[in-house]
Amino acid sequence: MITEKSQIPVHVAIIMDGNGRWAKAHNKSRSYGHRAGSENVINIVEACCQLNIKYLTLYAFSTENWKRPKEEKKALFQLLKEFYKKEIKRLISNNILVKHIGDISAFPKDTINTIVETEKETLEKCKNPILTVVLALNYGFRDELKNAIKNICNDAKNNTIDIENIDENTIKDYLYTKEMPDPDLIIRTSGEARLSNFLMYQASYSELYFTDVLWPDFSKDNFKQAIEEYSNRNRRYGGL
Ligand code: FPP
Repeated sequence: MITEKSQIPVHVAIIMDGNGRWAKAHNKSRSYGHRAGSENVINIVEACCQLNIKYLTLYAFSTENWKRPKEEKKALFQLLKEFYKKEIKRLISNNILVKHIGDISAFPKDTINTIVETEKETLEKCKNPILTVVLALNYGFRDELKNAIKNICNDAKNNTIDIENIDENTIKDYLYTKEMPDPDLIIRTSGEARLSNFLMYQASYSELYFTDVLWPDFSKDNFKQAIEEYSNRNRRYGGL
């Protein structure tokens, strides 16, 4: 049971996997599975608010997802646009900040515009958010690392930073996640047990939780079960 004394993670990150298998099991298209998956996001956002979790990062489109069929990508972009247009308005009115990590410049123009405009609005309206929801969009850690290295090299060349003084904080400052704490807990649904290029540096000391439940079925109770298991873990960070 989660009690007031339970260790609650500040930042939970989720690899929302299994939409395709869920759709297949229901005799539906993969896009239908993604729609069911996007509808589940709000349940988990609500659970985060109930548990006083401060950051929720969701892996919504990876740098590898470009390999998917054109129709599936189109459906994902459409869902994202709908999510930003409909759901995020509701999140803003509940004082929830929404932002993204990743390079969205290759997304369709209308999706980019909706993302940029909505995020501007949440930033203006949610000055003291109860929760920050971070969508990982065209995100991949190898890409994030490549950009960080390029920017560090450029700044060293311009003498903005001194190579001798580069430390872990410098590296953090060059990642998309610079303003966020590292994830305390990373959840992956659907029975796969890997990180798939998700927050590989930030996950150095994250607790990992894998469940067989497919993302569209991953309920508030399933989420709370993951948090309860986390609350009983002993985090030593290499110490005793
Ligand atoms: C993995 O399922 C899921 C994705 C590639 C994308 C996740 C997207 C959503 C949950 C919907 C859009 C999100 C928002 C926030 C609007 P999969 O297709 O790899 O499933 P499978 O492994 O069973 O085929």
